[in-house]
Amino acid sequence: MRNLIDIKDLSKTEIEELIKVAKDIMQRPEKYSEKCKHKKLATLFFEPSTRTRLSFEAAMIELGGNVIGFSSASSSSTSKGESVSDTIRTVGCYSDIIAMRHPKEGAPLVASNKSTVPIINAGDGGHNHPTQTLTDLLTISCEKKRLDNLTIGLCGDLKFGRTVHSLINAMERYKNIKFVLISPEELKTPEYVKIKMEEGGIKYIETNDIEKYIDELDILYMTRVQRERFFNEEDYLRLKDYYILNKDKLEKAKDDLCIMHPLPRVNEISTEVDDDPRACYFKQVAYGKYIRMALILKMLDIK
Ligand code: CP
Repeated sequence: MRNLIDIKDLSKTEIEELIKVAKDIMQRPEKYSEKCKHKKLATLFFEPSTRTRLSFEAAMIELGGNVIGFSSASSSSTSKGESVSDTIRTVGCYSDIIAMRHPKEGAPLVASNKSTVPIINAGDGGHNHPTQTLTDLLTISCEKKRLDNLTIGLCGDLKFGRTVHSLINAMERYKNIKFVLISPEELKTPEYVKIKMEEGGIKYIETNDIEKYIDELDILYMTRVQRERFFNEEDYLRLKDYYILNKDKLEKAKDDLCIMHPLPRVNEISTEVDDDPRACYFKQVAYGKYIRMALILKMLDIK
């Protein structure tokens, strides 16, 4: 039985296969519309979500399957003190596959040790978000037509941002990748992530200036400063609007820059950028459903 806890649980070849299947689903959705007939996906979200939960649910429905689950810990027996392990053993009796989001780092891994059905990590604290990374890889593959030879700017909360940690982890496998890590001092990329980049031979530079390297970027990946990860409200208020991407800041950017954001957005991309042909973040949302359809098929071993 396969689980997906960390993006590295999938080989590079498997990721390439998922991207190929996702592209085929986009072209020929009718071929896949009954592949998961009589299968049930459980979405267990102990932390809020719009895109991840609803795209998983839409993915399963479009594969002809059914969905059960909850969207907050308060509406489950967690609120009565039930452990994650007991919840997982219970839900495994009612479903064929589980997508789980939890505020605690490592919770989906703990769950996978007790589960009788495959577990997909749908985000654990500031740690990992592998299905966002699959979404990001499909977006880059579709929009840039390559996954090698890219200069990628990551901007915002690089300390707690699980989507950027997972993306860095995934890009280690591709050739000639360079990261420009753009953050305020307090939200810099953790040392353990930088050590991994160095071990993997990935080049990176750190800066707090979003405009300094913008003309070199193939991808600009914006992130939200996450209020829920701060211990101190004052720090959040001081840092929340540190970066606001607007038309002026994009003046020197390449014509084929791909602007990404895992969303939700607060203020970090001005809405005036939404009409710019380089804005890819709502396309990215759409790609998320197709790669999750491909992933569900793979994890249920359905051809
Ligand atoms: N990108 C992402 O994880 O969005 P949600 O928090 O809305 O699921």
